[in-house]
Amino acid sequence: MNLRTFYKIFYKHRIAKASFFLRIYNFIVVPFKYLHNIFFFEKKVNLDEHKIKFPNLGKKNLNSLFEYFNSDKGESFINQYLQPAKKNKIKIKAHGYAKIYENVFVNLKNTRINILELGSFYGNAAAAFYFYFDKAYIYSGDIYPDLFKYKSNRIKNFYVDSSSRNSLSKNLLSKKNNFDIIIEDASHMLKDQILSLFMLFPLLKSGGVFIVEELDFPETRDDMKINQTKPDLKQILKNILNNLDFNSIYINEEEKKYFLENFLSIEIKKGNFNEIAIIKKR
Ligand SMILES: C[S@@+](CC[C@H](N)C(=O)[O-])C[C@H]1O[C@@H](n2cnc3c(N)ncnc32)[C@H](O)[C@@H]1O
Repeated sequence: MNLRTFYKIFYKHRIAKASFFLRIYNFIVVPFKYLHNIFFFEKKVNLDEHKIKFPNLGKKNLNSLFEYFNSDKGESFINQYLQPAKKNKIKIKAHGYAKIYENVFVNLKNTRINILELGSFYGNAAAAFYFYFDKAYIYSGDIYPDLFKYKSNRIKNFYVDSSSRNSLSKNLLSKKNNFDIIIEDASHMLKDQILSLFMLFPLLKSGGVFIVEELDFPETRDDMKINQTKPDLKQILKNILNNLDFNSIYINEEEKKYFLENFLSIEIKKGNFNEIAIIKKR
């Protein structure tokens, strides 16, 4: 993690709200906090080597793998969003999406598939997928790709900003990779969830699945819809399920038409706290 990412993740929101003097204080203190945290950064793990050392990992179920690698998609995790120096050993309840995922993924387990995860953070879910799908190639995108702490010949991590049409075009659409599974776990903002689904749906292979995590954040959290225009993605998907029309300033006619002609099914499921959308393609 570089200094810029450390500042943006742990201090930017605080500094924006702080008084003038507190701002100055924070600007002086942040580089020292960063230097202190460097001692707590975890070493990069080479998963191709890890697999040789721990051959039984490939036999674990998805929840055990999420928990082993500490992704918040499992039943419990150690809070990975604290500053590294403040990380503790206490396990807390997590999203609990594994049981939902496993039903959707089980038939793809031993096939050579491409997975895209938007919002990879440290790459903990990507590492779990590496072992669950033993032939999968995993593409992990984030606005802070320097956070990613795994290496492998089957994983590529890269920069993408899911709030920007230009960035999604340049870093994904123009690359022309196609995916069997796309998981959107990035900002969870109203606009970004819509852009990701409608812009990236053409990259999903026929028979593929697109998953949107925390689908209900824009509905339940004010900070997920600041300066953004409704309807949110959950409302759009519900309209589609009820054969009702919808309009969003974030989708163009071509994207809307493509989605409506190519989706096979839409399901909304609930994890331990939040909802996820599971959208299959014809
Ligand atoms: C909830 S975390 C992801 C957790 C991870 N998928 C896991 O299972 O461990 C959200 C991630 O989305 C990233 N993110 C936030 N806004 C983004 C954006 N506009 N574009 C891409 N990534 C973004 C954050 O940097 C963060 O790493």
